[in-house]
Amino acid sequence: MKSKLRPLKNRPAFKALAAHAKKIKGLHLRQLFAAAPKRGERMTLEAAGLFLDYSKNRVTSETMKLLGQLAVESGLRARIQAMFRGEKINLTENRAVLHVALRAPRGASRLVDGKNVVPEVHAVLDKMAKFAERIRRGRWLGHTGQRIRNVVNIGIGGSDLGPVMAYEALKHYSQRDLTFRFVSNVDGIDFVEAVRDLAPAETLFIVSSKTFTTQETMTNAESARAWLLAGLGGNRKAVARHFVAVSTNAEKVTAFGIDPANMFGFWDWVGGRYSMDSAIGLSTMLAIGPKNFRALLAGFHQMDEHFRTAPFAKNLPVLLGLLSVWNTEFLGAETVAVLPYENYLKRFPAYLQQLTMESNGKHVTLDGQAVSYQTSPIYWGEPGTNGQHSFYQLIHQGTRLIPCDFIAFLHALTPLGRHHDLLLANVFAQAEALAFGKTAAEVEAEGIPAWLVPHRVFEGNRPSNLLLADRLTPTVLGTLVALYEHVVFTQGAIWNINPFDQWGVELGKALAQRIVPELESRSSPRLQHDSSTNNLIRRYRRLKQ
Ligand code: F6P
Repeated sequence: MKSKLRPLKNRPAFKALAAHAKKIKGLHLRQLFAAAPKRGERMTLEAAGLFLDYSKNRVTSETMKLLGQLAVESGLRARIQAMFRGEKINLTENRAVLHVALRAPRGASRLVDGKNVVPEVHAVLDKMAKFAERIRRGRWLGHTGQRIRNVVNIGIGGSDLGPVMAYEALKHYSQRDLTFRFVSNVDGIDFVEAVRDLAPAETLFIVSSKTFTTQETMTNAESARAWLLAGLGGNRKAVARHFVAVSTNAEKVTAFGIDPANMFGFWDWVGGRYSMDSAIGLSTMLAIGPKNFRALLAGFHQMDEHFRTAPFAKNLPVLLGLLSVWNTEFLGAETVAVLPYENYLKRFPAYLQQLTMESNGKHVTLDGQAVSYQTSPIYWGEPGTNGQHSFYQLIHQGTRLIPCDFIAFLHALTPLGRHHDLLLANVFAQAEALAFGKTAAEVEAEGIPAWLVPHRVFEGNRPSNLLLADRLTPTVLGTLVALYEHVVFTQGAIWNINPFDQWGVELGKALAQRIVPELESRSSPRLQHDSSTNNLIRRYRRLKQ
């Protein structure tokens, strides 16, 4: 497929950025701040309840202007409009990309193939809400008449990472007499540990799988069914009382023994990694209740509207997306560290890994041409302050440039003595230390002996963003997730790649399907892999007995 877009490196703004990058290469953040005393106030932006300080990036106002031009020349505005119009912008799968419809308010309109999908979205949300209330109030009884006290979500990738992250992030708002567990890995230990202290009569499984064919999820679901039946005397009717499904595949759900009335649907225009606000969020709704879940959706929607309407220079996701392109392409950064100073967000970096890297880990443009530039950086991270006592050493004094996204909140959800002041002091200090460092002269002035000085010098000039919100509410979580969804969208538009397919996960899956019978067959199979794989399979077969 041919696009009218010029290749990235031929766009005038890109060329201008390349020249500009050379020009400002020698500038240190110390100089940039000294030259503009109000930089720390000017290079900030507030929208949808989030405050962003991007002043500690290695950019000038000229950089920001050129990045804005790059967004224009990359057709970002038209792409945003195409997504919101429900056009099939996921070209390789011929699908619309309409996760924004999942959080559109009742009465809004979002079209797919000429049909408004918002009423269906709300019909599913209403069905989820009814079900959630029955579970939360103890009105849904298990096979033996006992109330449900444990909810186990079985899913993987987008059918797991969003639900786990949201459960952990919003635990403060959760109904504490319900226990939540998440099983994803095909490693049996994941399931065994999740259910070891649970009573089958009080346990509900949510099998979350868009396709209902994913090997890991179906294997775990089968083990869960066996565990349940073993615990409840083997009556297969029990399955309908203890299993519900979230899927787009009604046929396979029914074949599993789940009552189709207890299936919560979604649509092929929702990508797995963009689905935590669809029925895939059923466990989230069970934990925090329908009202809080709707507040979460309202947060997503606020950020969608901001992304759709704000001018690029004042558009949070656009700015963050452009800054990451700048850091990757012109400063050579290979990763982004996401560092939440909020323990409830401990799974947020893991969630972002799928969102960012499954989306933009691509090597060809929409036209199928090999890219001549880097695409997605590697996202990773851990909550502060723990990370400070682990990998921050490398960020401060290592040889690589690691841009950081710090995330912090003005208020703790459960204030405890001085903890929150200390937490915030740390996040501000880290951003300051990374940017400004400590010169040899400053170290010497402290009376440090000459031989030790080089070890004690902090180069500084290490870029970071700091996102600050009032407190971690469901609404704020929604804005935060939508922010990164649209950062990914912005990056994808600049790189002219498709953030919405994931063919890269297929080969490994197909090869594993081929290897399974080779490991399990009783007679020696004829192996036709490479010598290494053949050898590994033979060794496993020989030694596993
Ligand atoms: O790993 C690939 C993938 O297709 C993800 O994109 C998806 O989130 C995950 O597998 C789970 O898929 P499903 O919801 O169909 O089980």
